[in-house]
Amino acid sequence: MFSILLVLSDCAEVIHGKEVVPHSLPFMARLEDVKGSLVCGGVLINESWVLTAAHCKLKKPVKLTDTVKVMDLPKPASDVPAGTRCFAAGWGDTKENGDQSDVLLSVNVTVIDRVKCDSPDYYNFSPVCVCVNQHALSVCFQGDSGGPLVCRDALRGVVSFAGGRGRVNKPTVYTFISKYTDWITKTIQTSG
Ligand SMILES: *[C@@H]1O[C@H](CO)[C@@H](O)[C@H](O)[C@H]1NC(C)=O
Ligand SMILES: *[C@@H]1O[C@H](CO)[C@@H](O)[C@H](O)[C@H]1NC(C)=O
Repeated sequence: MFSILLVLSDCAEVIHGKEVVPHSLPFMARLEDVKGSLVCGGVLINESWVLTAAHCKLKKPVKLTDTVKVMDLPKPASDVPAGTRCFAAGWGDTKENGDQSDVLLSVNVTVIDRVKCDSPDYYNFSPVCVCVNQHALSVCFQGDSGGPLVCRDALRGVVSFAGGRGRVNKPTVYTFISKYTDWITKTIQTSG
């Protein structure tokens, strides 16, 4: 059973994040290597599938419980307008080149206008993505690729890349999951 390959990110850490109340994000998946080191974060979308930025495996289906739950995929056509308040979560580094966090952290972010994010002053490209302003919180995701962006209790993005810590015109870019909802649903159904 394989998870879904979306995009590779090379940077993942949560700096100045706030500790998440235990079990309040039951859909968060922590993918580790055999030594228990964090490989990537992800979102459980089915007992056999983790949605993540990197390619990771679920060796066997997880048992869904009160503290392990799947997160619904967003509707295919629903956009996330600029100004939407969301949060990002992960176990990534808590300081530059620092240790990885043992606890799940989250930060509040605000969605910025896609046209602005695609403009020459920003990234100068036109991916269909969700860009968020991480304010001065200096959030960059390293070692925690695949972490989710949750807006109004709905999964809306998976970390793709972060352009530069604290740089206003280099916001963090998330894969816009709605664009892939149909494909993901079909992949899960046809693989089973
Ligand atoms: C995010 O905002 C909510 C509501 O304003 C607040 O309760 C929460 O503590 C904030 N989280 C972080 C990580 O700052
Ligand atoms: C996971 O996917 C399988 C195959 O499509 C499906 O039978 C099962 O109900 C799904 N589980 C959840 C929790 O959605």
